[in-house]
Amino acid sequence: MRLLKGEDPLAIKEAGRIIREGGIVVFPTETVYGLGADAFNAQAVARVFEVKKRPYFDPLIVHIKDPKDLEEICEGVDERVKKLMDRFWPGPLTLVLPKKDKVPDIVTSGLKTVAVRMPYHPVALSLIKESQTFIAAPSANSFGKLSPTRVEHVLKDIGDKVDLILDGGPCEVGLESTILALYPRPTLLRPGGIPLEEIEKLIGKVEIASSGERPLAPGGLSKHYSPRTALRILREGEKIPEGLKLGLLAFRKPREGPFWAIEVLSERGDLREAASRFFEALHRLDSLGLDLILAEPFPEEGLGLAIMDRLRKAEGDRKA
Ligand code: TXA
Ligand code: MG
Repeated sequence: MRLLKGEDPLAIKEAGRIIREGGIVVFPTETVYGLGADAFNAQAVARVFEVKKRPYFDPLIVHIKDPKDLEEICEGVDERVKKLMDRFWPGPLTLVLPKKDKVPDIVTSGLKTVAVRMPYHPVALSLIKESQTFIAAPSANSFGKLSPTRVEHVLKDIGDKVDLILDGGPCEVGLESTILALYPRPTLLRPGGIPLEEIEKLIGKVEIASSGERPLAPGGLSKHYSPRTALRILREGEKIPEGLKLGLLAFRKPREGPFWAIEVLSERGDLREAASRFFEALHRLDSLGLDLILAEPFPEEGLGLAIMDRLRKAEGDRKA
Protein backbone atom coordinates (compact mmCIF):
# COMPACT_ATOMS: atom_id res chain seq x y z
CA MET A 1 0.00 0.00 0.00
CA ARG A 2 1.12 3.53 -0.72
CA LEU A 3 -0.17 6.81 0.73
CA LEU A 4 -0.02 9.89 -1.52
CA LYS A 5 -1.26 13.47 -1.29
CA GLY A 6 -4.50 13.85 -3.22
CA GLU A 7 -3.65 17.32 -4.46
CA ASP A 8 -0.57 16.02 -6.33
CA PRO A 9 -1.45 15.58 -10.04
CA LEU A 10 1.09 12.76 -10.31
CA ALA A 11 -0.64 10.92 -7.49
CA ILE A 12 -3.97 11.24 -9.30
CA LYS A 13 -2.37 9.93 -12.50
CA GLU A 14 -1.00 6.94 -10.64
CA ALA A 15 -4.34 6.29 -8.90
CA GLY A 16 -6.18 6.52 -12.23
CA ARG A 17 -3.78 3.99 -13.75
CA ILE A 18 -4.30 1.60 -10.83
CA ILE A 19 -8.10 1.78 -11.24
CA ARG A 20 -7.82 1.23 -15.01
CA GLU A 21 -5.63 -1.80 -14.43
CA GLY A 22 -8.09 -3.38 -12.00
CA GLY A 23 -6.65 -2.24 -8.65
CA ILE A 24 -8.41 -0.62 -5.70
CA VAL A 25 -7.83 2.90 -4.39
CA VAL A 26 -9.04 4.78 -1.31
CA PHE A 27 -9.98 8.36 -2.19
CA PRO A 28 -11.54 11.34 -0.41
CA THR A 29 -15.04 12.59 -1.18
CA GLU A 30 -16.91 15.43 0.52
CA THR A 31 -18.94 12.88 2.54
CA VAL A 32 -16.59 10.10 3.66
CA TYR A 33 -13.57 8.29 2.15
CA GLY A 34 -14.47 5.76 -0.54
CA LEU A 35 -12.82 2.47 -1.57
CA GLY A 36 -12.96 2.54 -5.36
CA ALA A 37 -12.66 0.11 -8.25
CA ASP A 38 -13.49 0.27 -11.97
CA ALA A 39 -17.29 -0.14 -11.99
CA PHE A 40 -17.12 -2.25 -15.17
CA ASN A 41 -14.47 -4.65 -13.89
CA ALA A 42 -16.32 -7.31 -11.89
CA GLN A 43 -13.12 -8.81 -10.52
CA ALA A 44 -11.83 -5.52 -9.19
CA VAL A 45 -15.23 -4.84 -7.61
CA ALA A 46 -15.13 -8.30 -6.00
CA ARG A 47 -11.90 -7.31 -4.27
CA VAL A 48 -13.65 -4.29 -2.76
CA PHE A 49 -16.26 -6.62 -1.20
CA GLU A 50 -13.49 -8.89 0.06
CA VAL A 51 -11.41 -6.13 1.66
CA LYS A 52 -14.47 -4.66 3.39
CA LYS A 53 -15.83 -8.10 4.34
CA ARG A 54 -19.05 -6.80 2.89
CA PRO A 55 -21.87 -9.23 2.05
CA TYR A 56 -22.57 -9.51 -1.66
CA PHE A 57 -26.22 -8.57 -1.14
CA ASP A 58 -25.20 -4.99 -0.32
CA PRO A 59 -24.79 -3.03 -3.59
CA LEU A 60 -22.30 -0.23 -4.29
CA ILE A 61 -22.67 3.38 -5.46
CA VAL A 62 -21.23 4.22 -8.87
CA HIS A 63 -19.37 7.56 -8.90
CA ILE A 64 -19.42 9.64 -12.08
CA LYS A 65 -17.69 12.89 -13.05
CA ASP A 66 -20.38 14.59 -15.13
CA PRO A 67 -24.20 14.60 -15.00
CA LYS A 68 -24.13 13.48 -18.65
CA ASP A 69 -22.53 10.20 -17.59
CA LEU A 70 -25.77 9.18 -15.89
CA GLU A 71 -27.55 8.16 -19.09
CA GLU A 72 -24.71 5.81 -20.00
CA ILE A 73 -25.67 3.53 -17.13
CA CYS A 74 -29.30 4.39 -16.26
CA GLU A 75 -32.78 4.50 -17.69
CA GLY A 76 -35.55 6.76 -16.49
CA VAL A 77 -33.66 10.06 -16.54
CA ASP A 78 -36.80 12.23 -16.59
CA GLU A 79 -37.52 15.87 -15.69
CA ARG A 80 -37.49 15.18 -11.95
CA VAL A 81 -34.10 13.54 -12.19
CA LYS A 82 -32.78 16.44 -14.26
CA LYS A 83 -34.03 18.91 -11.67
CA LEU A 84 -32.35 16.96 -8.88
CA MET A 85 -29.05 16.77 -10.79
CA ASP A 86 -29.18 20.46 -11.62
CA ARG A 87 -29.71 21.45 -8.05
CA PHE A 88 -27.64 18.94 -6.06
CA TRP A 89 -24.85 17.66 -8.30
CA PRO A 90 -22.02 17.61 -7.81
CA GLY A 91 -22.74 16.82 -4.17
CA PRO A 92 -23.93 14.34 -1.54
CA LEU A 93 -27.06 13.03 -3.25
CA THR A 94 -27.20 9.48 -4.63
CA LEU A 95 -29.94 8.63 -7.14
CA VAL A 96 -31.23 5.08 -7.57
CA LEU A 97 -32.53 4.42 -11.09
CA PRO A 98 -33.19 1.45 -13.42
CA LYS A 99 -29.81 0.22 -14.62
CA LYS A 100 -28.56 -0.49 -18.11
CA ASP A 101 -27.16 -3.95 -18.90
CA LYS A 102 -23.56 -2.82 -19.02
CA VAL A 103 -23.49 -2.32 -15.22
CA PRO A 104 -22.20 -5.62 -13.81
CA ASP A 105 -24.49 -7.51 -11.42
CA ILE A 106 -21.87 -7.56 -8.69
CA VAL A 107 -22.10 -3.75 -8.43
CA THR A 108 -25.87 -3.79 -7.89
CA SER A 109 -26.09 -7.15 -6.07
CA GLY A 110 -28.30 -8.38 -8.86
CA LEU A 111 -30.83 -5.55 -8.44
CA LYS A 112 -32.36 -4.02 -11.57
CA THR A 113 -31.42 -0.58 -10.29
CA VAL A 114 -28.11 1.20 -9.79
CA ALA A 115 -27.14 3.91 -7.28
CA VAL A 116 -25.20 6.80 -8.82
CA ARG A 117 -23.65 9.97 -7.53
CA MET A 118 -21.37 12.75 -8.73
CA PRO A 119 -19.20 13.94 -5.82
CA TYR A 120 -17.92 17.53 -5.61
CA HIS A 121 -14.57 16.76 -3.99
CA PRO A 122 -11.90 17.86 -6.50
CA VAL A 123 -9.70 14.82 -5.82
CA ALA A 124 -12.62 12.44 -6.41
CA LEU A 125 -13.59 14.21 -9.63
CA SER A 126 -10.03 14.27 -10.98
CA LEU A 127 -9.59 10.60 -10.12
CA ILE A 128 -12.76 9.57 -11.97
CA LYS A 129 -11.65 11.63 -14.99
CA GLU A 130 -8.15 10.22 -14.94
CA SER A 131 -9.37 6.63 -14.63
CA GLN A 132 -11.46 7.03 -17.82
CA THR A 133 -14.18 4.89 -16.30
CA PHE A 134 -16.76 5.16 -13.53
CA ILE A 135 -15.80 4.19 -10.01
CA ALA A 136 -17.85 1.84 -7.84
CA ALA A 137 -17.10 2.71 -4.23
CA PRO A 138 -18.52 1.99 -0.80
CA SER A 139 -17.23 3.85 2.25
CA ALA A 140 -13.64 2.80 3.00
CA ASN A 141 -14.30 0.94 6.26
CA SER A 142 -14.84 -2.68 7.26
CA PHE A 143 -18.48 -3.66 6.90
CA GLY A 144 -20.71 -2.40 9.70
CA LYS A 145 -18.05 -0.19 11.27
CA LEU A 146 -17.73 3.58 11.56
CA SER A 147 -17.22 5.42 8.29
CA PRO A 148 -13.84 7.11 7.75
CA THR A 149 -13.74 10.91 7.50
CA ARG A 150 -9.92 11.14 7.74
CA VAL A 151 -7.13 9.14 6.24
CA GLU A 152 -6.01 8.00 9.73
CA HIS A 153 -9.34 6.19 10.14
CA VAL A 154 -8.62 4.24 6.95
CA LEU A 155 -5.05 3.44 7.98
CA LYS A 156 -6.23 1.90 11.26
CA ASP A 157 -8.82 -0.28 9.53
CA ILE A 158 -8.33 -1.53 5.94
CA GLY A 159 -5.28 0.55 4.97
CA ASP A 160 -2.89 -2.35 4.43
CA LYS A 161 -5.24 -4.23 2.10
CA VAL A 162 -5.54 -1.65 -0.68
CA ASP A 163 -3.20 -0.60 -3.51
CA LEU A 164 -3.13 3.15 -2.91
CA ILE A 165 -4.62 5.75 -0.57
CA LEU A 166 -5.11 9.36 -1.62
CA ASP A 167 -5.05 11.73 1.35
CA GLY A 168 -7.49 14.61 0.97
CA GLY A 169 -7.64 15.78 4.60
CA PRO A 170 -10.88 15.75 6.61
CA CYS A 171 -14.19 15.30 4.75
CA GLU A 172 -16.25 18.47 4.68
CA VAL A 173 -19.78 17.03 4.98
CA GLY A 174 -18.77 14.12 7.23
CA LEU A 175 -21.89 11.95 6.70
CA GLU A 176 -22.66 9.75 3.72
CA SER A 177 -24.79 10.90 0.82
CA THR A 178 -28.57 10.98 0.95
CA ILE A 179 -29.93 8.05 -1.11
CA LEU A 180 -33.11 8.65 -3.08
CA ALA A 181 -34.87 6.05 -5.25
CA LEU A 182 -37.03 7.52 -8.02
CA TYR A 183 -39.18 4.53 -9.01
CA PRO A 184 -41.94 3.64 -8.52
CA ARG A 185 -42.15 6.78 -6.34
CA PRO A 186 -39.52 9.07 -4.84
CA THR A 187 -38.39 7.25 -1.71
CA LEU A 188 -35.71 8.13 0.81
CA LEU A 189 -33.53 5.04 1.31
CA ARG A 190 -30.94 6.68 3.56
CA PRO A 191 -30.92 10.18 5.05
CA GLY A 192 -27.57 11.89 4.48
CA GLY A 193 -25.69 14.98 3.41
CA ILE A 194 -28.58 16.63 1.53
CA PRO A 195 -31.52 17.35 3.87
CA LEU A 196 -34.84 15.71 2.96
CA GLU A 197 -36.61 19.08 3.27
CA GLU A 198 -34.53 20.51 0.40
CA ILE A 199 -35.38 17.56 -1.85
CA GLU A 200 -39.08 17.86 -1.06
CA LYS A 201 -39.01 21.57 -1.84
CA LEU A 202 -37.83 20.67 -5.31
CA ILE A 203 -39.86 17.55 -6.25
CA GLY A 204 -42.65 17.34 -3.66
CA LYS A 205 -43.43 14.65 -1.11
CA VAL A 206 -40.88 11.87 -0.68
CA GLU A 207 -41.75 8.57 0.98
CA ILE A 208 -39.49 7.23 3.69
CA ALA A 209 -38.44 3.60 3.31
CA SER A 210 -39.41 1.59 6.36
CA SER A 211 -36.60 -0.45 7.84
CA GLY A 212 -38.63 -3.52 8.82
CA GLU A 213 -38.84 -5.23 5.44
CA ARG A 214 -35.83 -6.51 3.50
CA PRO A 215 -33.87 -3.29 3.32
CA LEU A 216 -33.89 -1.51 -0.01
CA ALA A 217 -30.61 0.08 0.93
CA PRO A 218 -28.85 -2.43 3.12
CA GLY A 219 -27.24 0.55 4.84
CA GLY A 220 -30.74 0.29 6.28
CA LEU A 221 -29.76 -2.84 8.24
CA SER A 222 -30.70 -2.24 11.85
CA LYS A 223 -27.12 -2.55 13.12
CA HIS A 224 -24.54 -0.59 11.12
CA TYR A 225 -22.12 2.32 11.36
CA SER A 226 -21.08 0.98 14.75
CA PRO A 227 -18.21 1.77 17.06
CA ARG A 228 -16.70 -1.25 18.87
CA THR A 229 -17.81 0.33 22.13
CA ALA A 230 -21.48 -0.09 23.05
CA LEU A 231 -23.50 3.05 22.36
CA ARG A 232 -26.83 4.17 23.72
CA ILE A 233 -28.98 7.16 22.93
CA LEU A 234 -29.91 9.05 26.09
CA ARG A 235 -33.66 9.20 26.53
CA GLU A 236 -35.47 12.11 28.19
CA GLY A 237 -35.10 11.92 31.99
CA GLU A 238 -32.97 8.76 31.86
CA LYS A 239 -30.48 8.32 34.72
CA ILE A 240 -26.79 8.11 33.88
CA PRO A 241 -25.60 4.58 34.77
CA GLU A 242 -23.08 4.30 37.60
CA GLY A 243 -19.84 2.36 37.90
CA LEU A 244 -19.03 2.43 34.19
CA LYS A 245 -16.31 4.15 32.21
CA LEU A 246 -18.53 6.46 30.21
CA GLY A 247 -18.16 8.74 27.21
CA LEU A 248 -20.64 11.40 26.14
CA LEU A 249 -21.46 12.56 22.64
CA ALA A 250 -23.19 15.92 23.12
CA PHE A 251 -24.78 18.36 20.70
CA ARG A 252 -24.18 21.89 22.06
CA LYS A 253 -22.68 21.66 25.53
CA PRO A 254 -21.24 19.18 28.00
CA ARG A 255 -23.56 17.91 30.71
CA GLU A 256 -22.82 17.05 34.33
CA GLY A 257 -21.93 13.46 34.97
CA PRO A 258 -19.14 10.99 35.65
CA PHE A 259 -17.81 11.09 32.08
CA TRP A 260 -14.24 10.13 31.16
CA ALA A 261 -14.52 11.95 27.88
CA ILE A 262 -17.00 14.34 26.30
CA GLU A 263 -17.29 15.31 22.63
CA VAL A 264 -19.36 18.40 21.85
CA LEU A 265 -20.33 18.47 18.17
CA SER A 266 -21.42 22.10 17.74
CA GLU A 267 -21.41 24.74 20.45
CA ARG A 268 -23.40 27.06 18.23
CA GLY A 269 -26.03 24.40 17.63
CA ASP A 270 -25.34 24.09 13.91
CA LEU A 271 -26.37 20.65 12.60
CA ARG A 272 -24.11 20.98 9.56
CA GLU A 273 -21.09 21.48 11.82
CA ALA A 274 -22.28 18.64 14.06
CA ALA A 275 -22.54 16.30 11.06
CA SER A 276 -19.06 17.17 9.85
CA ARG A 277 -17.61 16.22 13.26
CA PHE A 278 -19.83 13.23 13.98
CA PHE A 279 -17.79 10.22 12.82
CA GLU A 280 -14.53 11.82 13.88
CA ALA A 281 -15.83 12.28 17.43
CA LEU A 282 -17.10 8.69 17.52
CA HIS A 283 -13.74 7.37 16.29
CA ARG A 284 -12.04 9.27 19.14
CA LEU A 285 -14.46 8.03 21.80
CA ASP A 286 -14.14 4.51 20.43
CA SER A 287 -10.35 4.56 20.92
CA LEU A 288 -10.53 5.19 24.69
CA GLY A 289 -11.53 1.75 25.96
CA LEU A 290 -14.83 3.03 27.38
CA ASP A 291 -17.58 0.70 28.65
CA LEU A 292 -20.35 2.74 27.08
CA ILE A 293 -20.87 5.81 24.91
CA LEU A 294 -23.99 7.81 25.72
CA ALA A 295 -25.24 10.00 22.89
CA GLU A 296 -27.64 12.90 23.24
CA PRO A 297 -30.54 12.88 20.81
CA PHE A 298 -30.33 15.43 17.98
CA PRO A 299 -33.26 17.38 16.53
CA GLU A 300 -34.59 15.38 13.57
CA GLU A 301 -34.55 18.15 10.99
CA GLY A 302 -32.03 19.02 8.30
CA LEU A 303 -28.84 17.01 8.80
CA GLY A 304 -30.13 15.97 12.25
CA LEU A 305 -32.21 13.28 10.52
CA ALA A 306 -29.05 11.64 9.16
CA ILE A 307 -27.23 11.97 12.49
CA MET A 308 -30.09 10.25 14.35
CA ASP A 309 -30.24 7.53 11.69
CA ARG A 310 -26.52 6.78 12.24
CA LEU A 311 -26.94 6.87 16.04
CA ARG A 312 -29.86 4.44 15.97
CA LYS A 313 -27.86 2.06 13.77
CA ALA A 314 -24.85 2.37 16.07
CA GLU A 315 -27.14 1.53 18.98
CA GLY A 316 -28.42 -1.49 17.07
CA ASP A 317 -31.10 -3.62 18.66
CA ARG A 318 -30.17 -2.62 22.20
CA LYS A 319 -33.06 -0.69 23.63
CA ALA A 320 -32.82 1.39 26.77
O1 TXA B 1 -21.40 9.35 0.59
C1 TXA B 1 -21.48 8.20 0.16
O2 TXA B 1 -22.50 7.75 -0.35
C2 TXA B 1 -20.19 7.33 0.27
C3 TXA B 1 -19.12 7.93 -0.62
C4 TXA B 1 -17.89 7.07 -0.68
O3 TXA B 1 -19.64 8.19 -1.88
N1 TXA B 1 -20.49 5.98 -0.09
C5 TXA B 1 -21.21 5.15 0.69
O4 TXA B 1 -21.29 3.88 0.19
O5 TXA B 1 -21.74 5.49 1.73
P1 TXA B 1 -21.78 2.62 1.05
O6 TXA B 1 -21.52 1.47 0.18
O7 TXA B 1 -21.12 2.63 2.37
O8 TXA B 1 -23.31 2.84 1.16
C6 TXA B 1 -24.07 2.74 -0.03
C7 TXA B 1 -25.48 2.39 0.27
C8 TXA B 1 -25.64 1.00 0.81
O9 TXA B 1 -26.48 1.04 1.95
C9 TXA B 1 -26.31 0.26 -0.34
O10 TXA B 1 -27.14 -0.74 0.12
C10 TXA B 1 -27.07 1.35 -1.04
O11 TXA B 1 -26.19 2.44 -0.96
N2 TXA B 1 -27.35 1.03 -2.45
C11 TXA B 1 -26.46 0.87 -3.45
N3 TXA B 1 -27.06 0.53 -4.59
C12 TXA B 1 -28.37 0.45 -4.34
C13 TXA B 1 -29.53 0.13 -5.11
N4 TXA B 1 -29.45 -0.20 -6.40
N5 TXA B 1 -30.73 0.17 -4.49
C14 TXA B 1 -30.81 0.50 -3.19
N6 TXA B 1 -29.76 0.80 -2.42
C15 TXA B 1 -28.56 0.78 -2.97
MG1 MG C 1 -20.77 2.45 4.35
